[in-house]
Amino acid sequence: MRAALLFLVTACCLWVLLPAGASKVEKPLPQVDGVLQLTKSNFDKALKKSTQLLVHFSAPLSGDGQRVSAAFQEAAAELQGSGVTMATVDVSKDKDLAKQLNASGPPPVRLYINGDKHTPVVCPVPKNAASILTWLKRRAGSAADLLTDFSQSKDSEELLVVGFFKDIASGYADVFYAAAVDLPDVSFAITHDEKLISKYDITHDVVLLLNKSRVVEAYKMAPKTSKGDLIAFITVYQMEVVTEYDGQTAGQILTAPVPNHALLFISKSSKEFKQIHSAFLSAAQSFRLKVLFVMVNVEEPRNGRLLEYFRVREGEAPLIRLVNLTDHVTYHLPSDKFDTEIIKTFCQTYLDGTAQPKMQSEPILEGWDTQPVKQLVGSTLEKVAFNPDKTAFVLLYLPYSQKSRALFPLWEELAKAVEHREDVVIARIDASANDINLSMYGSYPALRLFPALFAERVVDYTGKETVKDLVKFLDKEMEKAKKYRVKEDEDRKKYIEAMKAEDAKKDNKSKDEL
Ligand SMILES: *[C@@H]1O[C@H](CO)[C@@H](O)[C@H](O)[C@H]1NC(C)=O
Ligand SMILES: *[C@@H]1O[C@H](CO)[C@@H](O)[C@H](O)[C@H]1NC(C)=O
Ligand SMILES: *[C@@H]1O[C@H](CO)[C@@H](O)[C@H](O)[C@H]1NC(C)=O
Ligand SMILES: *[C@@H]1O[C@H](CO)[C@@H](O)[C@H](O)[C@H]1NC(C)=O
Ligand SMILES: *[C@@H]1O[C@H](CO)[C@@H](O)[C@H](O)[C@H]1NC(C)=O
Repeated sequence: MRAALLFLVTACCLWVLLPAGASKVEKPLPQVDGVLQLTKSNFDKALKKSTQLLVHFSAPLSGDGQRVSAAFQEAAAELQGSGVTMATVDVSKDKDLAKQLNASGPPPVRLYINGDKHTPVVCPVPKNAASILTWLKRRAGSAADLLTDFSQSKDSEELLVVGFFKDIASGYADVFYAAAVDLPDVSFAITHDEKLISKYDITHDVVLLLNKSRVVEAYKMAPKTSKGDLIAFITVYQMEVVTEYDGQTAGQILTAPVPNHALLFISKSSKEFKQIHSAFLSAAQSFRLKVLFVMVNVEEPRNGRLLEYFRVREGEAPLIRLVNLTDHVTYHLPSDKFDTEIIKTFCQTYLDGTAQPKMQSEPILEGWDTQPVKQLVGSTLEKVAFNPDKTAFVLLYLPYSQKSRALFPLWEELAKAVEHREDVVIARIDASANDINLSMYGSYPALRLFPALFAERVVDYTGKETVKDLVKFLDKEMEKAKKYRVKEDEDRKKYIEAMKAEDAKKDNKSKDEL
């Protein structure tokens, strides 16, 4: 009886619930301007419902974030009813979902097809809505889509990549088309136009980069040419031969498909700028697809972080560094002359793998402290220079600099003159091969005194380059350091006495209390 009753009650409940559930209109996914706002709770539902789900994993504070969001909104309006659904996931709020989808980092835009959560297609970071629309269109098409009759076209196109192929069904056309898909912001065309072929004096199977109909560069297709090779060609030749680093170009430089960068650090207002820049530019022509040439103006305060990263001080410019972006090892041009041949040789030795990387510290040389002038390296500099018992006078030099080398005999003489003094060390260090962190500006050669007793103090010598004047300076600074030290000692003594008095008072108090 009780079982029957229970059944009846349950049945009633079901009856009440069922029609309500069936008639309930499904709640639409939240959206803003046609872009779905997805979270952990509704991502799977959106995935199931869309044949193509284009998702922007947005990090609101990232540089591209705002621009991509705007492009998404505009594209969403165009894509209404197209079978492509636009969506965004706020990675900063929905960390769990991003992690689950392995989308915590770049690429920020991915296309999920037919509900497959695991193998989304990477979408190039769009500049604007047109980038997205072109990318989707090219993805869905084939090389034949790019066939163009040039007799109809105007010369207005700024940049145009044209493929001349003997056979449109060839592998070359496929590679060409695959590159076009990945570069939606560049116009691509394929032609059979014989007039054009004779106009540009080319044979078949060549890709031309045109700038307002003028040939920037030609690329001959070969059986081993890959999509990546072609993309590298187009991306690099779209850029200036030497690109100045700034807020606008930084992204282009860092994402360029060339893993080797040559950086010229120079002050644009300096009088040698024109000549050095022109040598750098003509060297750059020979390494276009191998090394990306970048100029960094050291006077620009916004470049401060870049200088810090490469440990370049404004006073050290001009100088040239090569950096391998794969392992982040840097190389320093061992010259204070900057002509085209020297820069080219430097790049070539680097590419050949025979250049010496710039190191934190050279290895310690055997017998480094047995000569009158001690030969320091990065790892011994601090210990010797900041020794509280000895005053160190250090020559920081560049081995390839005439001006630096001219000081060597003077330094030997100075070392001999003070050889008998136990409290003085004369030393030198190669500032090009050792990273010297003395948080101070200055150029090389530099003569720096590190007075004993006063370990934090560093004094630059800028007087006459004679032994007599150097010794006078040394003695004066040592006296000064002693005086400072005496005063410091007195202050310290007073402080200690005051502390003792305080303690004694406390003692008396506790005795009184007993
Ligand atoms: C994320 O990566 C992990 C480990 O590689 C993998 O097991 C998981 O299936 C991935 N998630 C997705 C959504 O592809
Ligand atoms: C294209 O030509 C214009 C001048 O017409 C020039 O300013 C621009 O730098 C050129 N672009 C490339 C990539 O060569
Ligand atoms: C850059 O670094 C990578 C990884 O260590 C290495 O394979 C490559 O040869 C280096 N390139 C040059 C030009 O030294
Ligand atoms: C330089 O030394 C200071 C203090 O020792 C340290 O805080 C700083 O990080 C160092 N800078 C570099 C670039 O190593
Ligand atoms: C502590 O007490 C002793 C004797 O009780 C006295 O001589 C001394 O001055 C006191 N010291 C202080 C700091 O009050």
